[in-house]
Amino acid sequence: MSRPSTDTAPAVDRLRPRRSCLAVPGSNPRFLEKAQGLPADQVFLDLEDACAPLAKPEARHTIVKFLNEGDWTGKTRVVRVNDWTTEWTYRDVVTVVEGAGPNLDCVMLPKVQDAQQVVALDLLLTQIEKTMGFEVGRIGIEAQIENARGLNNVNAIAEASPRLETIVFGPADFMASINMKSLVVGEQPPGYDADAYHYILMRILMAARANDLQAIDGPYLQIRNVDGFRTVAGRAAALGFDGKWVLHPGQVEAANEVFSPSQEDYDHAELILDAYDHCTSEAGGKKGSAMLGDEMIDEASRKMALVVAGKGRAAGLKRTSTFEIPEA
Ligand code: GLV
Ligand code: MG
Repeated sequence: MSRPSTDTAPAVDRLRPRRSCLAVPGSNPRFLEKAQGLPADQVFLDLEDACAPLAKPEARHTIVKFLNEGDWTGKTRVVRVNDWTTEWTYRDVVTVVEGAGPNLDCVMLPKVQDAQQVVALDLLLTQIEKTMGFEVGRIGIEAQIENARGLNNVNAIAEASPRLETIVFGPADFMASINMKSLVVGEQPPGYDADAYHYILMRILMAARANDLQAIDGPYLQIRNVDGFRTVAGRAAALGFDGKWVLHPGQVEAANEVFSPSQEDYDHAELILDAYDHCTSEAGGKKGSAMLGDEMIDEASRKMALVVAGKGRAAGLKRTSTFEIPEA
């Protein structure tokens, strides 16, 4: 069935699952090995802040080897390069994409400050794809918002390239950029009792949704505090974020759980979709609204249900109930 063009919900259905996005230092073969066995939706092999400057040149080649020879089945494969203000970015991109382009899904660009920085990466990727005979435009871009200038320009950044798949919040760098008085990422600064992150998260979410992109929350650094992780992840999930970074195996299951609908909500969403399809059909009387049990559903219910169903399908949930056509 074709959807009206104002429909924003199917984007969630179309995009890759990214409930848990596992950070793996590109310079650490042991972690690169271990990451393959973890149930994260995405891995990103890091050339930026988890990789010491002296280790970066070799890490590029380590990443190429692991992308080409590792078993990343079922995972979105991403490499985070260094940001454009450094001297490393172009060599990161050229070495990794020339060496492992067909085994790479996206490049993550950190500390994006304006749309031109995304365009520059897009152009460089196109050059490499053409030179190497790779499919042009297949490799996506993830843009990290990590400073005040990036947040001010987030709408233009989100529109900057058809390669963009996600806008990612980088809370640690962001807190430093705005002089936030807290040392624990995700927690409220001392002396402040409202949600210090709400404005930032909402701006990122709006820019992402207006452009059919995913919105991803960044890391929670207290890796042994899984309850704290759940609280911070739950806040992003409640707003509508699609996933969160994980830094440790102990955070993976929590992220997958927090960003998936419950089985009950998933079943209910699929029932709403079936019931709405039926009531609007010829056989169902071409009605614009209907009752599903005690609940009145209409086109807006379908849109909400599409979001939950899309997340559930992406999470691999299976229906445990079927729609029965009501007696006339
Ligand atoms: C991630 O890159 C962060 O700065 O939080
Ligand atoms: Mg950062």
